[in-house]
Formats: sequence, structure tokens, C-alpha cells
Amino acid sequence: MKVETVGVVGAGTMGHGIAQAFAVNGFTVHMVDVSDEALRRGVAAIQKSLERLVSKDKLSAADRDAALQRISTATALDSLADCDIVVEAATEKEALKLDIFRHLGEICRDDAILASNTSSISLTRIAAATPKPERVIGMHFFNPVAVMKLVEVVGALQTGDTTFRAVEELARKVGKEPVPVKDSPGFVANRILVPMINEAVFVYAEGLASAENIDTVMKLGANHPIGPLALADMIGLDVCLEVMKVLHDGLGDPKYRPAPLLQQMVDAGYLGRKSGKGFYNYD
Ligand code: 3HC
Repeated sequence: MKVETVGVVGAGTMGHGIAQAFAVNGFTVHMVDVSDEALRRGVAAIQKSLERLVSKDKLSAADRDAALQRISTATALDSLADCDIVVEAATEKEALKLDIFRHLGEICRDDAILASNTSSISLTRIAAATPKPERVIGMHFFNPVAVMKLVEVVGALQTGDTTFRAVEELARKVGKEPVPVKDSPGFVANRILVPMINEAVFVYAEGLASAENIDTVMKLGANHPIGPLALADMIGLDVCLEVMKVLHDGLGDPKYRPAPLLQQMVDAGYLGRKSGKGFYNYD
């Protein structure tokens, strides 16, 4: 299957990173979000990330400009009707994602692939909301997308082999390593990673060590590139909380209960880097 035009739903942390990865690798990208302001922030983040790559000699100035020119933006989902593939990276709420896929199912071509970057929500339920469930799949990128090599390719129960192979090939074309996984709450990476973060929040709430010291323990003692609380701030505390809820509800094991402090911080609007405050301050 030939993929040239890619739609990306969502210009937030993951959406703009995904749009950038496709644009840098020669694809035409249409990025959609609900407001011009969200799109403006997304494009600014792409410019900043591309600048970083240019300053490290990982990208030429000409390739940066070409990548930016390949990205167009819009606030209407209908502008994605002609895309060969759409990668949805909207807020991690199941009802919202189901609405988006119902809409995409109505407007997109029959042969288009509809992918979701969901961190944990059932791809099988998402696929069931569309008229061509065999063309629905998970394409789960990692933050920061420009740097992280992994794409979990998540097969819903209905996903067809052709769709699976096309998305694996596409992941390689954007410089990523695809790893096939089955649809299950949190898939593989987040099933392991986010409970570790949640445990770090419990440890912090119990006052066993400061945030800095918890992170130092895991950096120096387990060779993690950043500590779990700094990582929570990078991922977004709201996303971590949603993943824990999906694990808790979907697997039914009390060991996945979200740390009460994680819930409280989200309630307070302390979402990490994106809100300026989480376990650390980002003024
Ligand atoms: N755009 C472009 N380049 C970037 C970048 C960005 N947004 N962020 C970092 N980089 C580059 C830097 O320029 C630097 O390049 P260099 O090696 O050529 O100098 C390199 O990445 C390392 O960055 P820094 O030196 O600034 O800082 P670190 O060494 O601390 O690395 C990090 C930053 C790569 C983010 C590292 O801390 C890391 O790997 N952290 C863990 C990330 C992780 O676990 N991600 C997964 C989150 S889970 C997820 O996304 C799933 C979701 O569903 C929840």
C-alpha cells in the first residue's frame, strides 16, 4: 500500500511529534486540532524541535524548511478525507476517541488506514466504532517522538494482516523500530512503565524521599535516563492517571490502583511540563 498523505488528529505533545516525524521523512501531513491556538502551539513546538535537530547537525536547514512546508493545519476533521492514513493522537479519553473514529470512518476512503496513538485504550473497541475495523490499528509512539525509536504496533482483534504489515513498514520509513503487540490494557510498554511511575508517586506521598532523591535513586541505581517523577512530568500526569485507570478497570487487579496523590495533582491542574508544574516547577 502506498502512503503519501498522512492525517494527524491532535497537535499536543504526541500529535505534533508524530506530525514532525512524518514530515521530516517526506510525507505530506495534515494536522488537525480543535482550535487555531492549539495548532499554533503545535507548530511552534515542531519548529523548536527541528531547530534542536539542526543545531546538533542531525538535520540540514533546507530539510527543516522542507519539513515545515509539508505540514498544513486545519480545525475540521473533514479535511482528512483524502489521507492514506490518519494517526489519531487526541486526548486520552475513550468517548472522545470513539467519536473521532466514527467520524473518520464516515469521511475517509475505504482503503485508508485509521491508526490510534492511544496509550492504553482498547483498539478492539475503537475498531468496532468504524465501518472497516480490519483497517484500524494502534501506532503507539513514545515521547519525545523525535528521539524515541519505538513504535508499538497494536493489533486489534479485527486488524487485517495487510494493515499490520503496512503500518510496520511505515514505522520503519519514519526511522522507528516497530514491535508487534496484542491489544490489552496498556499494551506492553505502559503496562510496565506507568505502574513504576505510580509506585514512585506512592513512595513520594509516603515521604520516603524527596522527588529529586527518588529520581536520583532510579537514575543512578537502575540507569534510567531520567527518574520516574521527572518522566511523569514529561508524559503528563493526566495521561499517567488515565493509563492507571485503564489498567485498573481493564485488568481488575487492585495492584493497579492509581496513587491518590496522582489523582489530586491532576485535580489541581498540576499536569507536569505542559502546565508548568508537576513534581517539579517549569517556569
Ligand atoms: N526534539 C529533538 N531532539 C530532542 C528532543 C526533542 N523534543 N528532546 C531531546 N532531544 C535530543 C537532544 O537534542 C539530545 O541530542 P544529542 O544526543 O544529539 O545531544 C538528546 O535528545 C538528549 O537530550 P538532552 O541532552 O536534552 O537530555 P537527556 O539526555 O536527558 O535526554 C530524553 C532526554 C531523550 C528525553 C531522555 O531523558 C530520555 O530518554 N527519557 C526517557 C524518555 C521515555 O521514557 N519516554 C517514554 C515515555 S512513555 C510514552 O511516551 C508512552 C505514552 O503512551 C505515555
